[in-house]
Amino acid sequence: MSASLENTTRKISMSKAVVSLENVEKDYGTGDAIVRVLRDVSIRVEEGELVGIIGASGSGKTTLLNILGCLDRPSRGHYFLGGKDVSGLSDNELSLMRNQTIGFVFQSFNLIPQLTVLENVETPGFYGKIPKRQRTERARDLLHLVGLSHRLNHYPPQLSGGEKQRVAIARSLMNDPAYILADEPTGNLDSKSGTDVMEIFFELNQQGKTIVLVTHNPEIAQTLQRVIELRDGKVLNDRIIETFRNTGAKKLDLLGRPQGA
Ligand SMILES: Nc1ncnc2c1ncn2[C@@H]1O[C@H](COP(=O)(O)OP(=O)(O)OP(=O)(O)O)[C@@H](O)[C@H]1O
Ligand SMILES: [Mg+2]
Repeated sequence: MSASLENTTRKISMSKAVVSLENVEKDYGTGDAIVRVLRDVSIRVEEGELVGIIGASGSGKTTLLNILGCLDRPSRGHYFLGGKDVSGLSDNELSLMRNQTIGFVFQSFNLIPQLTVLENVETPGFYGKIPKRQRTERARDLLHLVGLSHRLNHYPPQLSGGEKQRVAIARSLMNDPAYILADEPTGNLDSKSGTDVMEIFFELNQQGKTIVLVTHNPEIAQTLQRVIELRDGKVLNDRIIETFRNTGAKKLDLLGRPQGA
């Protein structure tokens, strides 16, 4: 391949939007009780971006994240994931897409209390049809990555909030997702644990993961690459943070999806 063609190819693949929403609207309820929660939202998120979503309570952040994560569907408009319009997919196709493409981290962790830390991290691999041995190996590696090798056989109720969220991050990486969505991931944490969790997101982003996270915390928003602000379900502004420098300290080995899975 000639150098110029190679450059062009690289440019095309680099500018490929991981996700793109076009004129997305979301209503809840019907008739007189209809609530228009998202209004004419058009957003592109490119590969490798670290994007924050901010806005007052009730402005539609979680609704937007749920649509980005295929947990919910738009009432109108289009949603492209990796170039594919997912609006027309069946529920089964959508959940397969979700399992293979997206990692989720929630404010309240959403770990399964009856499963050990290791088993919690393995769970998406079960649905992703990764063979048991590889699943366990990968879960161990991911837990090592988030500094929890010493807690493999603990149960979630035996962990601190920060530890629970680190388990949830390891779990979100199980199927090597193209992007990670996090809804207020530091919302239930003290500031030290919140900083540790953000550090992991910065490191993952430095390794090339695309991350979209909702935050109420202006200090966190200020450290991101790009911030989208919602007001009453509309994009009020969408800005690049000029001072963004991702200086994630440690080098993490992100481990691609296991061979043969
Ligand atoms: N299932 C639902 N049925 C009806 N209304 C809903 C539903 N889910 C959300 N809403 C309404 O949509 C609006 C946006 O909710 P959303 O949860 O997206 O806000 P948010 O920005 O995430 O708020 P917070 O910061 O408090 O988490 C709210 O007014 C909420 O009451
Ligand atoms: Mg919310």
